[in-house]
Amino acid sequence: MRKLTLMVLLMLLLSLGLAACGGGGEETSDGDGETAATSVGDAANGERLFNESIIGAASAPGCITCHSLEPGVVLVGPSHSDIGARAETAVEGMSPEDYLRQSIVEPNAHITEGYTEGVMYQNYGEELTNTQINDLVAFLLTLK
Ligand code: HEC
Repeated sequence: MRKLTLMVLLMLLLSLGLAACGGGGEETSDGDGETAATSVGDAANGERLFNESIIGAASAPGCITCHSLEPGVVLVGPSHSDIGARAETAVEGMSPEDYLRQSIVEPNAHITEGYTEGVMYQNYGEELTNTQINDLVAFLLTLK
């Protein structure tokens, strides 16, 4: 009899412990979700990221290797000297933020006139963090 009571007690304690762990886990993921959804990019950090020659989890070529910030200078892709202004009218009905974000994570969604599909690096959507993409977009919006 005593053994049984002990077992029941142990099981109760165990399940209480598990429940507490589960609750804790949920709280952290809630917190993360909030940060990602509400964070506005940091343009200064975006500028630093843009100028890196290697970027992201898989050491991809950085933006500056293909996009000059000098007006009219074409490296591989179009100059980004005025990309913030061009993004405003690039796709009708699309906000400049959404256009820029999509151009980074889904580069073939809209191809800039005069350029070829598939040349821009294709995997930034998986290899950059949400924060890095937000920061890049915030920086690009300042280029007018
Ligand atoms: C390997 C070369 C290459 C790299 C690296 C590259 N791009 Fe591009 N990008 C291109 C080319 C080519 C185009 C034009 C064709 C197209 O629209 O996909 C382009 C288009 C764009 C556009 C749309 C431009 C417009 O005129 O509307 C944006 C925004 C952009 N890139 C941002 C970035 C950012 C930010 C990075 C770095 C995270 C980056 N690109 C890295 C080659 C590159």
